[in-house]
Amino acid sequence: MKHKFKFNVLFFSLCVFLCLSIVASGFYPEPEDVQAIDEKVKNFLESHRYQWRDMNVSAVDGKILYDLIIAHNYKKALEIGTSTGHSAIWIAWALSKTGGKLITIEINERRYRQALENFEEAGLSDYIDARLADAHDLVPELKGPFDFVFCDADKYWYKNYLIAVLPKLEVGGCFAAHNVSGRRQRGMRDFVDYLESLPNVETTYDRSSWSGISISYKKSNK
Ligand SMILES: C[S@@+](CC[C@H](N)C(=O)[O-])C[C@H]1O[C@@H](n2cnc3c(N)ncnc32)[C@H](O)[C@@H]1O
Repeated sequence: MKHKFKFNVLFFSLCVFLCLSIVASGFYPEPEDVQAIDEKVKNFLESHRYQWRDMNVSAVDGKILYDLIIAHNYKKALEIGTSTGHSAIWIAWALSKTGGKLITIEINERRYRQALENFEEAGLSDYIDARLADAHDLVPELKGPFDFVFCDADKYWYKNYLIAVLPKLEVGGCFAAHNVSGRRQRGMRDFVDYLESLPNVETTYDRSSWSGISISYKKSNK
């Protein structure tokens, strides 16, 4: 009887362990997968180094986004303004390590299709949900939650994107916006003033980026 009880406990523990391992493996890639992805992405980035001509971020800026995601273990990312996918590739590369996924939005069909090809070639399609849509309409409709948002579409709409997305950003999450150095661009001053007026958001600027990236952390819900 005692033996049977011990066996049942052992069997139950083994089942729990196996289930947890299976669930965990669904979220985190195996080390050999990580290596294969790394190699494919590095090759892709190297071979396309001089081919980003659609208002894409620089490799320096891509690395800033990558580092932010890794440092905070972000998993639920949104990008507004895919273009042909350079920043999305850096973001998704980081998410391939944290076990996350990116939703990215582009309004221009040619760039969207080129981005899909690039994601495939870089081996990152599984980590990206690319949408061909007007972000003015789609961003307010997205349910979230998100823990990382990269804003890089129509500058005059940045403030509206922030207003739509902030309630869906988790506390501790990050809203990064590109091209904030060009504060004379239509709407940029408005956006930066609004960003800095928010009591529950803490903002710094990464000056290693030539274009200027604002990096804002949500500190609380109100
Ligand atoms: C600066 S580019 C994005 C570059 C991209 N993040 C990269 O580094 O590869 C801005 C993109 O936003 C897109 N865009 C502009 N307005 C948009 C809107 N309302 N909805 C979705 N995309 C939009 C443009 O078509 C353009 O491709």
